[in-house]
Amino acid sequence: MGGGQLRVFETPEALAREAAAAFARLARERVAETGRFLVALAGGATPRGLYRALAGPPYIAGLPWEQIHLFWGDERCVPPNHPDSNYRMAEESLLHRIPIPPNNVHRMLGEHPKPVEAARIYAALLLRLLPLTAEGRPRFDLILLGLGTDAHTASLFPGSPLLSETETLVAVTPEAHGGYHRLTFTPPILNAACEVWFLVTGADKAEALRAVLEELFDPKLRPGQIVRPKDGRLIWYLDRAATQHLTQPTRSN
Ligand code: 6PG
Repeated sequence: MGGGQLRVFETPEALAREAAAAFARLARERVAETGRFLVALAGGATPRGLYRALAGPPYIAGLPWEQIHLFWGDERCVPPNHPDSNYRMAEESLLHRIPIPPNNVHRMLGEHPKPVEAARIYAALLLRLLPLTAEGRPRFDLILLGLGTDAHTASLFPGSPLLSETETLVAVTPEAHGGYHRLTFTPPILNAACEVWFLVTGADKAEALRAVLEELFDPKLRPGQIVRPKDGRLIWYLDRAATQHLTQPTRSN
C-alpha cells in the first residue's frame, strides 16, 4: 500500500465535515506555535465541500483568519473571474464568506500574459513569505490536493516532464489541458510540506486511487505517487465510493 494514512468516510458530506474540523485543529495548533497557518488550496470540484464547510459555523467566527494565509497549488491560465479558475471556485465557496484580510489571499496570476513570468513571481512570493526547509524550499503547513481519474494531481499530468523537476518550485504545464496551460507546484514544493491531504471522492476515482496506492511506484504513469512529503504527513481523505477497488479493507472514520 502506498504511503500515507487513509481516513475513509461514508459520504462526501461526512468527509467535508471531518476535514473541516481537522483543518481547524491544525490551524489553531500552527497559529499557536508560529503565529501563522500557511495553506495551499486545491482546485477542481472536490474541495468545494470542504471550503463550504469552512465558510459556515463554527469556523467563520471560530478560526483565526487574521493569521491564516491562503495560496493555491495550481491555477488555470485564465482570468480570476473565468468559470474554470480555481481562485474563482474558492472565492465562491469560501473567500466571500470569511473575514480573511485580502492581503492574506495569495492567488496565482492566471491572467498573466506570460505564464512563465507568473510562475516566477509566485515562486518568489513563496520564498519570501514561507519558512524554508534545510534544502531552501518553502514549507507549507498544509497542502490540499485532488486526484484526477488519470491519477494526476495539482497540474502534474501523466508523462509530464514536471514530474522529474527537482529545482523549479512553480512551473507552467508544457501542454494545454482543457484548452489552456496551467501553473502548478512541482514535486519539490509538494514534498517539502508539513502535511499534505488528498481529498478524493466518487466511484470514478476508484481505479486511479487503487493504482496510486497499490501499484508499483511509477509517477510518470501515476503522478499522485510523486507526493511523498520528506518530513511531513500524508493523509488521504476518501469517501467509501472512491475506496471500492482497494484490495485492503478500510474502515470508516
Ligand atoms: C485542478 C486540480 C486538479 C484536480 C483534479 C481532481 O486544477 O483541476 O488541481 O488536480 O484536483 O483534477 O478534480 P475534481 O476534484 O474536479 O475531480
